[in-house]
Amino acid sequence: MAKDYIVKDVALAEYGRKELDIAETEMPGLMATREEYGESKPLKGARIAGSLHMTIQTAVLIETLVHLGADVRWASCNIFSTQDHAAAAVAESGVPVFAVKGESLVEYWDYCDRIFQFDDGGANMILDDGGDATLYILLGARVENGEDDLIAVPTSEEEEALFAQIKKRMAATPGWFTKQRDMIQGVTEETTTGVHRLYELQKQGLLPFPAINVNDSVTKSKFDNKYGCKESLVDGIRRATDTMMAGKVALVCGYGDVGKGSAASLAGAGARVKVTEVDPICALQAAMDGFEVVTLEDALPTTDIFITTTGNKDVIRIEHMREMKDMAIVGNIGHFDNEIQVAQLKNHKWTNIKDQVDMIEMPSGNRIILLSEGRLLNLGNATGHPSFVMSASFTNQTLAQIELFTKGDQYGNEVYVLPKHLDEKVARLHLGKIGVRLTELSQEQAAYIGVTPEGPFKPEHYRY
Ligand code: NAI
Repeated sequence: MAKDYIVKDVALAEYGRKELDIAETEMPGLMATREEYGESKPLKGARIAGSLHMTIQTAVLIETLVHLGADVRWASCNIFSTQDHAAAAVAESGVPVFAVKGESLVEYWDYCDRIFQFDDGGANMILDDGGDATLYILLGARVENGEDDLIAVPTSEEEEALFAQIKKRMAATPGWFTKQRDMIQGVTEETTTGVHRLYELQKQGLLPFPAINVNDSVTKSKFDNKYGCKESLVDGIRRATDTMMAGKVALVCGYGDVGKGSAASLAGAGARVKVTEVDPICALQAAMDGFEVVTLEDALPTTDIFITTTGNKDVIRIEHMREMKDMAIVGNIGHFDNEIQVAQLKNHKWTNIKDQVDMIEMPSGNRIILLSEGRLLNLGNATGHPSFVMSASFTNQTLAQIELFTKGDQYGNEVYVLPKHLDEKVARLHLGKIGVRLTELSQEQAAYIGVTPEGPFKPEHYRY
């Protein structure tokens, strides 16, 4: 049989498998889910097109979905985030995976296409991170039906590669996008940026299937985005630069969940941390957490390390980079690379230091060190978040896939979050591993605060 995967080197599978075995010991939520649903196989018949960073932790997610009965095909949702040994282990297990660290944008969209190419007609579920797999199908179908001529005018290298891939598929298999779109029963979306895209689609009446917003499970965004970045941001900066962090001035743009974790990460390493924000609530939080809140312009002359965490575009612009100190470090941990105006640096002198680390010379002669070409540096320069916190995220993903695959007809074409009792369940599954002992409510206490002793313990409006 022809091989149905693209990885860097399948010989890395043994190393990947060893790390996978270790990761399983740190992912109690996923392992408990395997135990609970392993026999009933609720995902039997599900053909899941997965687009999410192809890491060791994701490999444990993939094997959980397979254990629950699903057929799975996988690609990474970022050109730099694949761990090649993880991809190799997944390929060797027989799951088609298309992911290579450092793949080109053209390859990226080709791999995105391949995750939908199931033998029996196409995918019926999408598991997405950032929304690219969903975008590929929905945009392709709109173009195919003459509802969108957007692809006539690519405005970036990224769009150019996407549009070329759409045209290629349309030429090879006319009508494919529409057929594939109509086959999808639901999408579960991992991250803030992808969720934002889904709500936009819903608002415009363009969402053709139900979606579960996994990001806004409390046990996702208040843990992965925050505590995950707290561990993986500094990890990425250190692996990239080996710079001394203590005493340096670091600027974190954005103080949402990722910004909070990022500021804590840098502060924990001894940096003197400043924050920029546009939202007065988050700005006040940053100040009361002890960080000086400034504007980017004010901070330019004194900052050594710049990190964007906003999910917004054009946050660090070319005029800012021109004013930075010599050898300032610039990186992004938000989902897309447009937070930093990297495209505007193309006509400058680049010196590649090593994979995902470049030194760029400004007209003044000052140089900046740019990490992962402005793509999320904790996955590009390091290995992303640790297994334990990803277990919470991916347990939500698995429950969301089960929910939409088995009960999708009870949902409209809107964006939903998982119910609170499942959120609490995900947390509960992670307590034992770290020795947490819960206090139990008496019947009287429960009645007094208006809950049941088994939970849910908080009203929907509670913010944690
Ligand atoms: P969030 O919405 O909680 O936080 C973003 C913050 O940035 C908000 O408080 C907003 O007011 C602020 N902001 C927006 N524009 C700004 C500007 N021009 N200047 C300063 N602040 C600005 O979102 P969250 O969950 O923190 O996610 C941020 C990004 O990180 C998203 O793209 C998300 O997908 C991504 N993400 C990345 C992860 C990683 O491992 N690298 C993990 C989880 C999320």
